[in-house]
Amino acid sequence: MSESTIIVERSERVGIIKLNRPRAYNALSRTLINELLDALRSFESDPRIGAIILTGNEKGFCAGADIKEQSELSFVNAYNQDYLKNLNDGFFAVHKPIIGVINGIALGGGCELAMMCDILYAAEIATFGQPEITLGTIPGAGGTQRLIRAIGKSKAMHMILTGETISAKEAEAAGLVAKVLPTEQVFNAALETAGKIASFSAPIVAIAKEAVNEAEELGLKNGLHFESRLYHTTFGLEDHAEGFQAFLARPKRVAQWTHK
Ligand code: CAA
Repeated sequence: MSESTIIVERSERVGIIKLNRPRAYNALSRTLINELLDALRSFESDPRIGAIILTGNEKGFCAGADIKEQSELSFVNAYNQDYLKNLNDGFFAVHKPIIGVINGIALGGGCELAMMCDILYAAEIATFGQPEITLGTIPGAGGTQRLIRAIGKSKAMHMILTGETISAKEAEAAGLVAKVLPTEQVFNAALETAGKIASFSAPIVAIAKEAVNEAEELGLKNGLHFESRLYHTTFGLEDHAEGFQAFLARPKRVAQWTHK
């Protein structure tokens, strides 16, 4: 039997996925993508899980599309099988927040995979880049679309047209990552944050994630309308009543979420 390309763990209400294809810097082979999507689906459908962490291994986060596999694909094959589209589709289907812990290189599809996550924590040694141009191709898993939204046109163009990497500190200053931490601390810090998010009402967390993600799809007027509708739907949840009652109780008490 071949070895699994990911390691799946749990820590209380946090599901953890570690990319683990060390001989190829965790490159996105078909097998790895399928195993990653299976793990995401499994955490998504598990009510005991409230947030997900995606990280790499001692080789870093991910070196992108599997160059050997991509080199064997003709235009017609890639086009007909919508090569890599399943990765974006799989992440879109996850309502639970995903924290990416970028513990080293995030190159090409690896940088794009990072940007599919909802919050990024980076180790000081992390680097981000879209080196596809050096291979005679372009980012094909969201890089041209998400990078510009994350860091603006000039910086995104610079990365995509030169293939040069940026450091974790530069990524933080540009708004690509939420936090940069010493390498040995970054996973535990992300785990703490994921645990905190997972301790809140699951439907409220999912609705908040959806509302924020829609900001990238809708103009301000439609976005505000959509937010308003979602906000009002939260009034119908048992957790909404519980949160407000717990605050108003005297003495105040800690809300007990039922995720309904
Ligand atoms: N796919 C497949 N194998 C890869 C890989 C990748 N993306 N990246 C590294 N490897 C493999 C190498 O082929 C090599 O395998 P062998 O030992 O069998 O020869 C092994 O990992 C070690 O690689 P190096 O010898 O190059 O190690 P290094 O320490 O000198 O450099 C690295 C490490 C900086 C990650 C370098 O390997 C590298 O630049 N990798 C390619 C990064 C890249 O260009 N990514 C973009 C891919 S295209 C893409 O992602 C398209 C898209 O938008 C989705």
